This record gives sequence, C-alpha cells and structure tokens, in this order.
Amino acid sequence: MKVTETFEGIALPGHLHTQESLGFAAAFTFRPTDVLIATYPKSGTTWMQEILTLLYSLGDARPAKTIPNWERAPWLEQIYCREALRDTESPRLLTTHLPAHVLAPALQRSKAKVIYVARNPKDVAVSFYHFHHLAKFLPDPSSFDAFLTQFLEGTVHYGSWFEHVKGWLGQRHLLDILYVTYEEMHQDLRGTAQRLSSFLGCPLAPGTLAALEQHCSFSAMRDNAMANYSLIPAEIMDHSQGRFMRKGVVGDWRSHFSPEQNALFNRRYQEEMGDVELPSQWPMA
Ligand code: A3P
Repeated sequence: MKVTETFEGIALPGHLHTQESLGFAAAFTFRPTDVLIATYPKSGTTWMQEILTLLYSLGDARPAKTIPNWERAPWLEQIYCREALRDTESPRLLTTHLPAHVLAPALQRSKAKVIYVARNPKDVAVSFYHFHHLAKFLPDPSSFDAFLTQFLEGTVHYGSWFEHVKGWLGQRHLLDILYVTYEEMHQDLRGTAQRLSSFLGCPLAPGTLAALEQHCSFSAMRDNAMANYSLIPAEIMDHSQGRFMRKGVVGDWRSHFSPEQNALFNRRYQEEMGDVELPSQWPMA
C-alpha cells in the first residue's frame, strides 16, 4: 500500500485512498436530495455529521448511537466507504475532504446541497498536528514548528488549507452551498442548527434542538463510540497516542504558537486571504 496517493495535485493518505477510489469520487453521480459535508481536516467534520444526523432523525439519538459516523455520512473518496455509499437511502449525508476543483463539475451538474465547514486555521494546524500522532496513515509530524512550516507551505497531506478554503468559497455562486464555521457551532449550536434546518428545508420537530444540543456536545460525542473513532483498529489509529475527540475548544493555538510563529502565520494568512471576500461569520483571530 502506498503511503501517499497523489490526485489532481493533492497528496492524500494511501491507506484510505486509491486512484480508483478518488476517480470514483470525482465522477460521482449526486442525487438532488444529497447533502455533502465538505471540510479541510480538523475543521469540525465529525461534529457536523452528528448535527445533521440528529436533524434528519428529528432528534432521535438512536441512529447516532448505533451506527458509526462513516456509515451515516460516508466519505466519497475513501476505499472503506463504498458499501455504505451504495446502501444509504435518500436523503444521503455524504462527506469529503477533497478540494472543490475535483468535485465541482459533478456537483454543478446536480442539485445536491453542500455544507462547507471552516475553522480558524491556527486551531486547525494545532488539531492536525496532534492528529498526526494518532493517525497511522499520516506521516510522523516531528516538531510542531516543522509541522507548522509544512502546513503554511501546503505540503501536508490534504494540501493547502488556503487553497481548500478559497476553492470552496469560489463555488458560492455556482452551488447550493452554506458556509458554517466551527466557531459559530461553539458559540451558538441552536442557532447553527436553525440555519442548517432552513437551508436544508428540514423542519425542526419539537424537542429536536434540545436533543441535538445534548447529543452533539463535546462530552457526549467523546463518549459515543459511534462518533469518537475508538472502533478504528490501532494499526490505523493508535488510541494510546491521543484521542480523536481531543479538546474541542476555540483558541487552543494560543497555548501552542510562539510570538514568531504567530507573526509568520499572520503574514502568510494576509498574503493568501487578504483579498478574499469572506462570509460574515468568518472566525479568524
Ligand atoms: P481538537 O483536536 O481541537 O479537539 P474533524 O472532525 O474535522 O476531524 O475535527 C476534529 C476536531 O473537532 C477536534 O478538535 C475535535 O475535538 C473537534 N470536535 C468534534 N466534535 C466536537 C464537539 N461536539 N464540540 C467541540 N469540538 C468538537
């Protein structure tokens, strides 16, 4: 098995992807009722999968407690999700980390809805660094400083955060797409769920918001084996090296970044994002 699979300029973990599985995703036939969660890694993907599961089950937590998240919202591009993709009934929840340029043609041909979740990239970098210790399908990150350099250069697996975000923001007039941030989910989960419900045309049943708030809390998800990836075998995720549900906070970068790293990051962010028109609730510090 290859450690790295490169597809359309993006390096991806070879343990989870093949050229065939990536080609399958790029040529995917979306249904009009499909809802695709698109994210750069560590941006709140699993949280969004859980929220949408609860919205569509009208607040019934049983599916989220009995079916693993990768079967409830299978990944388009991963080799392990093909059966779940085939078997899921409409409306399907789907998930991807692929960049917009790979999926945009298939999405533009469809009426599928897209929810793009973004997170402050400083917190993404910290979360991704820690995740590299437990995810055996990612390279050894060595020091945080070395990892941060690679993150800013876009040479980490899954490519550049800047390109990913800019690519999906560039689809705002071309797709039926909603932009949500990790930070707004943190600040106002109920409000986010209401925004999702009106975008999806999925009415809120009485009690859904209360159930969603309880079930999608960090502590409930940390203890839910169907959401916390503890079912994944140690050769793929070494749980002795850390938890997938690690801290779940906003601003953890402050305890990791030196003033020099922060200044470098801010310069790079400005170079890449300075001219980009951002949604109003954008989170950057
Ligand atoms: P941390 O490593 O900062 O704790 P993804 O699902 O995209 O891989 O993102 C994982 C990140 O989302 C992890 O961040 C994880 O703890 C956080 N997360 C998942 N569920 C959460 C929740 N209910 N509340 C807050 N953070 C959550």
